Amino acid sequence: MQQSLITIAYIAASALFILSLGGLSQQETARRGNLYGILGMVIALIATAAGMQLGGLPVLAAALIPGLVIGAILASRVQMTSMPELVAILHSFVGLAAVLVGFATYLGPQPQMTASEHQLHIAEIFIGVCIGSVTFTGSVIAFLKLRGSIGGKPFMLPGRHLINIVMLLITVGLGVAFFMSPEPANGQWPLLIATIVTGILGVHFIMAIGGADMPVVVSMLNSYSGWAAAAAGFMLSNDLLIITGALVGSSGAILSYIMCKGMNRSFVSVMLGGFGTEGGTVSTAAAEHGEVHSIESAGAADLLQNARKIIIVPGYGLAVAQAQHSLAEVCKLLKDKGVDIKFAIHPVAGRLPGHMNVLLAEANIPYDIVFEMDEINDQFKDTDVAWVIGANDIVNPSALDDPGSPIAGMPVLHVWESRDVIVMKRSMASGYAGVDNPLFYKDNTLMLFGDAKKVVDEILTAMRS
Ligand code: TAP
Repeated sequence: MQQSLITIAYIAASALFILSLGGLSQQETARRGNLYGILGMVIALIATAAGMQLGGLPVLAAALIPGLVIGAILASRVQMTSMPELVAILHSFVGLAAVLVGFATYLGPQPQMTASEHQLHIAEIFIGVCIGSVTFTGSVIAFLKLRGSIGGKPFMLPGRHLINIVMLLITVGLGVAFFMSPEPANGQWPLLIATIVTGILGVHFIMAIGGADMPVVVSMLNSYSGWAAAAAGFMLSNDLLIITGALVGSSGAILSYIMCKGMNRSFVSVMLGGFGTEGGTVSTAAAEHGEVHSIESAGAADLLQNARKIIIVPGYGLAVAQAQHSLAEVCKLLKDKGVDIKFAIHPVAGRLPGHMNVLLAEANIPYDIVFEMDEINDQFKDTDVAWVIGANDIVNPSALDDPGSPIAGMPVLHVWESRDVIVMKRSMASGYAGVDNPLFYKDNTLMLFGDAKKVVDEILTAMRS
């Protein structure tokens, strides 16, 4: 009876996770999607606890309660701009968990199994541990890169593809040795060495990937963490963990595909690494591109108030400055004056998928004026002012007209086709991909320097007075 209740609870939790993913795919339903996810997780935790023997409950509580407290504190304190780092480090925990579960399952008491079941079980352990190890070390490196603790520049050893292939072949060889080992006392060594080799592979893989490809890497590691969880589910014979892992694994893979499409990159070329250089360098392109025209907040306020149609392009800087609430007020004032305002969202704007949508939703900006890049890109031609706020790479024309540019081929928002462009940022520094931006030197571009929040507030004051 109890087992059938647990099975029903697992089915309900799985259904809620699927509903959650469906809800999260659209801004209007995202909150509901989140609630489904929370509910599914609560049911899963209760069902897991109910299925345990009494003696195991204190161990579960000892792991769960500190985890809940630490997780709640971290999640409530994290800034939106630091979210990718948090996601990356959480992926590393899933990888590490898969490694630990693999070792515990292998070295612990073995359940009664037929010979073929045993072989399958051994294969699950080896694959789960290897995926877990790559996910663990790769996610730690992604965390350090996103945090800026190590540079975003691709680290490329000579013959790196060969090194990766050799490590993969060694892992396969160790897998064969593991499979052939009759006892854990012999098998633990190939398993341990394979864990180390795949761990080094994870480091090497992610170190070679440049700043501009980090969005794809984060979603790819998300996918790996799902497969690592599914592998742990197989080892523990836990259906819910298998289903949840597969959901995370496949949705992460789909997201990686969408991100690759958004950046016009193939998945294989991302994996081969080397795209994009170190972020935050100061442009040296002035001589090459010409003069910079700047404007003050009051002038920008005039230009915006006298426009018929404005498209706002938000980027990472808007999130850093937390200028979204002031911006919403400016939009309200302009709308009251009859100005047609729209927002253009690039698929990799900011530092995590949907970053800009979340910011705008936070400031209650109506969804019906927020458009994806493909929906709005051909409207810049008949726009009076394109207002770029804290964005850089996503409006860089060299992606289209400089085949030698490190971001060549990445689709960008065609802001320069508008009559006037206001670019708001603090300096001439480059964006995340570390690439100079010729947009800043175009005749119809006006640079408005300063912190986005401070400048939007000044524009608001100028409009009100
Ligand atoms: P970026 O190219 O990084 O440009 C942001 C600009 O904001 C910077 O040039 C910076 O210039 C400015 N800025 C920073 N703080 C500011 C502040 N307080 N006030 C005003 N401006 C400020 O951002 P983007 O255009 O949104 O493009 C996103 C980039 O991040 C892409 O290269 C993408 O590949 C990468 N990326 C995306 C993701 C996802 S999933 N979206 C994840 C990881 C990486 P100043 O320093 O001169 O102010």
